[in-house]
Amino acid sequence: MKKIIITIDGYSSCGKSTVARQLAKELNYIFIDSGAMYRAITLYFLQNKVNLHDEAAVNTALAAINLSFVFNATTGKSDMYLNEVNVEIAIREMYISDNVSTVAADAAVREFAVAQQRKIGEQKGIVMDGRDIGTTVFPNAELKIFMTADIDVRVERRYKEVVAANAGITREEVKQNLAMRDHLDSTRAISPLRKADDALVLDNSNLTMAEQLTLVLQWVNERIQ
Ligand code: CDP
Ligand code: CDP
Repeated sequence: MKKIIITIDGYSSCGKSTVARQLAKELNYIFIDSGAMYRAITLYFLQNKVNLHDEAAVNTALAAINLSFVFNATTGKSDMYLNEVNVEIAIREMYISDNVSTVAADAAVREFAVAQQRKIGEQKGIVMDGRDIGTTVFPNAELKIFMTADIDVRVERRYKEVVAANAGITREEVKQNLAMRDHLDSTRAISPLRKADDALVLDNSNLTMAEQLTLVLQWVNERIQ
């Protein structure tokens, strides 16, 4: 059966990584969470106080960043490593979510991340989720999915995920962060979030995880036979 590239783009917290992970497991494909790469770059920029308006400083910082995904046998998922340090937990913190879309809008940052994503894709048999994967990173991907879900459903899903690690966080704060990122991601100049013309839309507001998997597997099967 032929190996393909599957791209999953869409709004914040609608379940892109969840679907990508489900598919990768079913198909024995590699799953790449491209958002984790932008989050790790953001962590480095904040730790090192990199000024986004200083092009030379941005380039120097990027040259010092080494990103890798390392499989974690305990969780069964890949963790994001920044310069050989596991940052999987650190990059999910709220202050990273508050800054990531600004960092991700930078041209040099995007060039850096996209080059690495394309390299990973050379081997095919991958599912990558993000914002510009079907439009920019892999415009020739065999299957492109554009995900969306009702904003209140998305807030509830994200709130449940972050409440334990962010004491005192409210649903309103989560909603503001999702809305802010969706706005910045959709309106930036370079590779804004938008549906690729040939992407299939998946609105999972009212779908269980099992139902969404059944649906996307049908789409995959139509393309790998
Ligand atoms: O929190 P959520 O899982 O929705 O987002 P994420 O996938 O972790 O991505 C975090 C942020 O990285 C997004 O809000 C975008 O600003 C940026 N991003 C991007 O610009 N392009 C991508 N391909 C993936 C993420
Ligand atoms: O990657 P993205 O930010 O789009 O979302 P995610 O990190 O996959 O998080 C989505 C959350 O919604 C997870 O906690 C899932 O368990 C949950 N969920 C889902 O993904 N799909 C459904 N049909 C129902 C719930």
